[in-house]
Amino acid sequence: MDYKKHIASKLNLEGFTEEEIASFIALPPNTELGDYALPCFRFAKAMRMSPVAIAEKLKGEFETDEFIEEVNSASGYLNFRVNRKTFVRDVLSEVLSAGEKYGSSDEGKGKTICIDYSSVNIAKPFHIGHLSTTVIGAALYRTYKFLGYNAVGINHLGDYGTQFGKLIVAFGKWGDRKTVEEGGVRELMKLYVRFHEEAEKNPELDDEARREFKKIEQGDKSANELFEFFKALTLNEVGKIYERLNVSFDSYAGESFYNDKMQPVVNELKEKGLLKTSDGAEIVDLSDYNMPPCIILRSDGASLYATRDLAAAIYRKNTYDFAKNLYVVAYQQNLHFKQLFKVLELMGKDWAKDCVHVAFGMVSMEDGAMSTRHGKVVFLEDVLNRTVEKCLSIITEKSPELPDKEKIAEQVGTGAVVFGALSNGRIKDIVFSYDKVLNFDGETGPYVQYTAARCFSVLSKGGEIGKYEIKDMNKSEYELAAHISKLNETLSSALEKYEPSFITRYAVDLAQLYNKFYFDCKILGEEENVKNFRLALTKATHTTLSICLKLLGIGVPERM
Ligand code: ARG
Repeated sequence: MDYKKHIASKLNLEGFTEEEIASFIALPPNTELGDYALPCFRFAKAMRMSPVAIAEKLKGEFETDEFIEEVNSASGYLNFRVNRKTFVRDVLSEVLSAGEKYGSSDEGKGKTICIDYSSVNIAKPFHIGHLSTTVIGAALYRTYKFLGYNAVGINHLGDYGTQFGKLIVAFGKWGDRKTVEEGGVRELMKLYVRFHEEAEKNPELDDEARREFKKIEQGDKSANELFEFFKALTLNEVGKIYERLNVSFDSYAGESFYNDKMQPVVNELKEKGLLKTSDGAEIVDLSDYNMPPCIILRSDGASLYATRDLAAAIYRKNTYDFAKNLYVVAYQQNLHFKQLFKVLELMGKDWAKDCVHVAFGMVSMEDGAMSTRHGKVVFLEDVLNRTVEKCLSIITEKSPELPDKEKIAEQVGTGAVVFGALSNGRIKDIVFSYDKVLNFDGETGPYVQYTAARCFSVLSKGGEIGKYEIKDMNKSEYELAAHISKLNETLSSALEKYEPSFITRYAVDLAQLYNKFYFDCKILGEEENVKNFRLALTKATHTTLSICLKLLGIGVPERM
């Protein structure tokens, strides 16, 4: 039952379609006023009447029915009160019959959304700074799919650059396969650091590295074999983390994928008169837009990060014909994306307007260790492990008898990290704190999971939910159901703003409303009719919480 449409269909407003009227109807912030509200100033001009007069007129004409039991006009608003019993009955039957599809829709039918997220760098550590891009991107990806979009997850690997020449030289001089295979990216980092130390004394090494990098580009067999070895090693390591975080991609086309796709872009820029030579480099002048130039080719002819991103954007448009092309990348790259989108616009790509930089803030550790400081990186894997460990000791203390503690600690610990990273507004900097994300009573992942487990336990004890009729209803019951009814619109606005934090907020509010209901209302000891109604509310809560957690990439333990 779509209440907004239903109300709209009963209003007589000449010159406005039902869809338009429905889209004006809002949810009042305070349910004391009503459950839906229509702001009448929207019609004032067309009707040549004051909003107050319009609201009065509409009120007089409106006939209440089994869904809407009361209409009031106040300060130019028309407020509707739904028949709460019918409303709650319908919400519950919708959730219970839709199950895990509850809240999904086909709003995205026929639309493709490209999402560039995580985009790790080969032979570099997967550190805490990659947490946000990975979990925000993946949450958007899942939510888009849930609302019927065709989402394409892209890991734009950083697999191009002279650093790979350096690594090959260092590996040849001081490395060996066995140590690197065992030590993984940490071992590669050591080699990399050693290269820089040695190159300071012996600059010849830099020339050697440049030659090795050229070899990779020219397809030399042994250089490429080594490069692929580094790549496989890195992807194997990040793959394990992706698995723990339930993250996946449809494409791993990284920077090097565009090696042979840049020349046509350079040609097109030239043909369109956009390229300028400056100090031997080829640039696009952006001074008219108050931006430094976008460098396309260096004076030695080498391409840049921006060149590859231009080729990648064009490739994505041609391959996927996206409705939107999102880049989930830290705000440090604001300028890069502004330049990129501007150059695309100057090239006459009308879809440049569909490219969006979904920026986010920095993550630092509460003990002051920064994410990227040289040699002092905080590996995401270590943070996950430590959180899981701490979580295990909390669980062991709280519920010593719980079976499968390790498995649950993994679900709750990783979930805590993910939920923590998603629950701040995207653009805010985050200070990561173990105690904060693991606070079982705070606005955290564990709190939401704990509530889901509480529902699960009530449901297992309650058995099958029999028939019921809603005879009367208290405030906690109504508010719980009303919140459940808002899942779809919450998801929809989360996508509109690219804000997974709307979903974490919604889940925390739902958990709080359930716990309030749980303490206010007896469930299992009540007579059949009331018991069944409250079990149905519990079931609907469990379903809705599970959907939210899954969209965020977080597991739903049955017990904890
Ligand atoms: N690998 C880059 C980094 O770690 C992020 C790439 C983002 N995506 C893009 N298309 N530029 O900074």
